[in-house]
Amino acid sequence: MADIIVVGNGLAGLSASITAAELGAKVILLCQNPPERSQSVMAAGGINAALNTKGQEDSPLQHYEDTIKSGCGLANSDAVKDMTDAAPKIIKKLSQLGVIFSRDDKGNVNLRYFGGQKKMRTAFSKSGIGKQIMCGLSQEVRRLAAKGNITVKENYKLVSLIVDEGICIGGVFQDNITGKLTAITGDALILATGGMNGIFGNTTGSLLSNGSATAVAFRQGVKLANCEMIQYHPTTVEVNGKRMLISEAARGEGGRLFTYRGKEKWYFMEEWFPEQGNLMPRDIVSKSIYQVCNKLKLGISQKNQVYLDISFLTEKEKKTALKEVYQLCQVYLNLDPAKEYIPVYPGIHYFMGGIYVDKGHQSSMEGLYAAGECACQYHGANRLGGNSTLGAIYGGMAAAQSAVAYENSEGLSGENNEAEKIKRRLVCAENEIIKTEAAIASYAIGDIPPREVLKDLRAIMNDSMGIERSEEQLTDGIRRLNVLMVKSKNMGEGVLAETEPLMVENMLFMGKALLLSALERKETRGAHIRRDYPKRDDEHFKKITVASYYSDETIDITFKEVQ
Ligand code: FUM
Repeated sequence: MADIIVVGNGLAGLSASITAAELGAKVILLCQNPPERSQSVMAAGGINAALNTKGQEDSPLQHYEDTIKSGCGLANSDAVKDMTDAAPKIIKKLSQLGVIFSRDDKGNVNLRYFGGQKKMRTAFSKSGIGKQIMCGLSQEVRRLAAKGNITVKENYKLVSLIVDEGICIGGVFQDNITGKLTAITGDALILATGGMNGIFGNTTGSLLSNGSATAVAFRQGVKLANCEMIQYHPTTVEVNGKRMLISEAARGEGGRLFTYRGKEKWYFMEEWFPEQGNLMPRDIVSKSIYQVCNKLKLGISQKNQVYLDISFLTEKEKKTALKEVYQLCQVYLNLDPAKEYIPVYPGIHYFMGGIYVDKGHQSSMEGLYAAGECACQYHGANRLGGNSTLGAIYGGMAAAQSAVAYENSEGLSGENNEAEKIKRRLVCAENEIIKTEAAIASYAIGDIPPREVLKDLRAIMNDSMGIERSEEQLTDGIRRLNVLMVKSKNMGEGVLAETEPLMVENMLFMGKALLLSALERKETRGAHIRRDYPKRDDEHFKKITVASYYSDETIDITFKEVQ
């Protein structure tokens, strides 16, 4: 049976591991940290599923339509259809695994409103949906591990893919504790390593999900898609140089955004979008706040901030539906949201782009699959809140099914000579380790700390890829990045790991792919405004940007039809 390697232990990685093991595969799950430290634990709002328990005649078809509409024409519609159809079954399965969802008086999984959806469709848990689902899935992985179906290896970081004649057959990993490089080969590898937070730094996401695995794959020729599509969540707050999320649940439960116009409170979302007001899709809410602060100059105290009012909070809500929001405000902002307004501004929250995959989550490299935030699949130009948890779990399942089917397909079972296969893999693995060691050694004489280069990269990315962009800004970003790339040749050894300069080097190229993709998309769609191309242009750009890296260190961007 197949050896499936899964990298990453957030929702997508755990889901992929469980599904592959259920299909009979032998799974090796590699991760940098224990699951309770994965970014998925931070998921606050909920998970979408058209359970239709609120008498609103909801259906998976409406969930599909809302997702496609919110994605502004760039989501893979077949894949979205499958995901939205599967959502109710996923909630059932999670419940069976012991995930505790908040329930209504009738005992049904409770649902709430979320942005861009006119029906109550977001299932949640008062103790934090991410923590709940991660507990359920981790427990199942432990059960399967005890049975010998899954082997978990913690503290392993992907440093390079092992590729045999264009086919991915494994990876070289660094043991974070000993620093030793290890090669692990298998029949297929699934990347589930999260978003590209590391190249921006100040996102709502975990810096442990830094995107370095995506950057590794990109440098080895794996194509990325829609890299320019970065979701700015409307309601975030700066805490210690990072963005902290104030969940959309606050608006789902009735929270209102406003600023002052003269002495009067101005509920701009309600005035501009009377039908859905504060619950418009995220891209529209974020762009509206941006406009209020930057164009109309009506930010609170002349700063980049508007107020979120959840002062309706009852004692019950403080302990139930909005418990997390209430506690975060108290602990990190020293603010009681039942008495004071929360100052908010959009911040980077999610990467809709990532590894280019087909409906079955196969990447452009045979044998390599990707799921969760590191993959580009369900969310197009703007993700619906509550669809990331769903997309990660469903994507993990779909990737595992494809990877196991791939192993059973003619291509691999044609390799009858098992001994020959093992020998060949060993040679490829050894060669990749030698190559990686040589690349690490090439940085032994440099003296620029990799951290300094990373800091410069983050400054460039943040300056260039805001909600509003222009050709001038992006071209300047690319120019600065080219200069930084030259400087980076003198990077020295890392402080945390000897692979650090290599990782930073990969991230520089990934950053460039983002900038180039944004430059080529000469229109305004979904998450961003192009100041110089303020209109959506379906005729030319209802397409996916695909970024390809070549061994001569060039990157090109092409446009592909949406699947
Ligand atoms: O606002 C939120 O709770 C975020 C949810 C999500 O990104 O899906």
